[in-house]
Amino acid sequence: GKAIGVFTSGGDSQGMNSAVRAVVRMGFYLGCKTFYIKEGYQGMVDGNDNIVEATWASSSGIMQLGGTVIGSARCSSFRTLDGRLQAAQNLIERNITNLVCIGGDGSLTGANIFRQEWPSILEELSKRNRITEEQKASCSHLNVVGMVGSIDNDFCGTDMTIGTDTALHRIMECVDTISTTASSHQRAFVLEVMGRHCGYLALVASLACEADWVFIPEWPPEEGWEDTLCKKLSAERSTGQRLNVILVAEGAIDRQGNPITANKVKDLIIDRLKYDTRVTVLGHVQRGGSPTAFDRILGCRMGAEAVLALMDATPDTPACVISLDGNQTVRVPLMECVQKTQQVQKAMDERNFEEAVRLRGKS
Ligand code: F6P
Repeated sequence: GKAIGVFTSGGDSQGMNSAVRAVVRMGFYLGCKTFYIKEGYQGMVDGNDNIVEATWASSSGIMQLGGTVIGSARCSSFRTLDGRLQAAQNLIERNITNLVCIGGDGSLTGANIFRQEWPSILEELSKRNRITEEQKASCSHLNVVGMVGSIDNDFCGTDMTIGTDTALHRIMECVDTISTTASSHQRAFVLEVMGRHCGYLALVASLACEADWVFIPEWPPEEGWEDTLCKKLSAERSTGQRLNVILVAEGAIDRQGNPITANKVKDLIIDRLKYDTRVTVLGHVQRGGSPTAFDRILGCRMGAEAVLALMDATPDTPACVISLDGNQTVRVPLMECVQKTQQVQKAMDERNFEEAVRLRGKS
């Protein structure tokens, strides 16, 4: 049977374990061996105990957990040729020629480069007598399939990334929790939510939590927003509302590109409206805890589809990423999605927000 290696890379997100479990279980179903590659690319390079064969039991009881039980790491050695040679050797020794990478655009790009380089890596390992001729022949190509784990929902090509729904629920719980104390004391709360480059979490949470105002990187407020914000907040109060909730995405900026921070907004409200105002930075609370049903099922569906995609792959099949399109899990070309995601980032850096939003939409 074929051997599959599954790893998680980059920032963790809730639902990754469910995806890992589904890869293992679908692998079993199709008669494949599946290996956990622990600590991301670092474990692939280090080998030894970092590459462990998965069992039914070891993939049980993990889908309920946030984070990634097989670990994730940033890895500089995989960026060097020596590191990739070592990683390839570790895989070949275990006959692993199928990789499932669960991570963000950087991790997926790394996997794709590895796949493209594979023939020359094989040549080099064989020249250095680090693999046998049989190994070279039986591991002649590497298949790569990706899944996107990120709470930010910042990847082009999928409706939802694994972890976003849970992060939204966590934000909602936090805002609801804060709202009761805010209301008791007639306070305004300015909450910073994650999403360095992407306002999805802040925007959607603001709708779900009845926020009075939201700042997102993609939509810097118009000049004079300070007046508009204060008018809006006091209008809410004059209707009898006892609290104000303002969400600020981490990467929010004004029209000049200056950061709009939660503290800046707080100072403004205190200065102009004299409301008792507090700041809460939700931070990594958003990235932890038990995954929602949606993220568990998303991980399951994507993980199963990833294995099917690997089984269908031929040497000419480009790497794909498993995406959610409406209610369907589909395979989309990995590099096209990565490139589009990077174009969005470029447009954002150039403050061409309309273009960024256009590119993020479905084409
Ligand atoms: O990409 C996920 C994310 O949680 C962002 O929302 C946030 O800006 C960033 O990672 C935080 O990174 P770190 O965990 O390295 O502090």
